[in-house]
Amino acid sequence: MTGLWAEFLKAVFLLLPAYIANMIPVFSGGKTPIDFGQKLYRHRILGPGKTIRGFVYGVAAGTIIGSIEWLLLPFLNDYASSFGFVFPKMNLFIAFLISFGSLAGDATGSFIKRRMNLERGKEVLGLDQLNFIIGAIVFSFFFTQISWEMIAVMILITPIVHRTACIIGYWIKVKREPW
Ligand code: CTP
Ligand code: MG
Repeated sequence: MTGLWAEFLKAVFLLLPAYIANMIPVFSGGKTPIDFGQKLYRHRILGPGKTIRGFVYGVAAGTIIGSIEWLLLPFLNDYASSFGFVFPKMNLFIAFLISFGSLAGDATGSFIKRRMNLERGKEVLGLDQLNFIIGAIVFSFFFTQISWEMIAVMILITPIVHRTACIIGYWIKVKREPW
């Protein structure tokens, strides 16, 4: 049980900057879209829901959160050592990679949705919840320590956290759809 608890805490540690990076654009999305309104064949490359400001603010916020975790790492590892585990490596660069990967994955999800002829905001179950997590893992995989157990935990808890955050965002009227 301690083993699973450790994998859970390590997963949450790496997920936090990715979640923040993905959440901040909902509050601070701008106007200018990343694709500048360009189309690929008949559809927008990414669509109006992916803005430059959202991307930059999201990456910045996620990087700050990851850096705070980096500063807290000695204290966190003090706690972890009593359970016999160590938190994964974190620094400014890894915090940036996780955050950038999170929003790159998010944009990739939109790219795929536009190719599927789906308009901005249409839900694709699975893709909408996991795009950013997959991006964060891909970008940081070789720079920190990510076990397969951690990936399993991330994929299991993210849809629940994501859905809950989206519903709250919809209630407080910062999000257009509850997903
Ligand atoms: N957002 C942004 N810039 C980004 C990502 C998100 O400005 N790089 C903002 C947009 O206002 C967007 C909102 O955050 O509408 C919610 O993000 P998301 O659900 O990922 O976008 P959707 O509007 O659903 O668009 P898509 O169908 O492309 O996923
Ligand atoms: Mg959406």
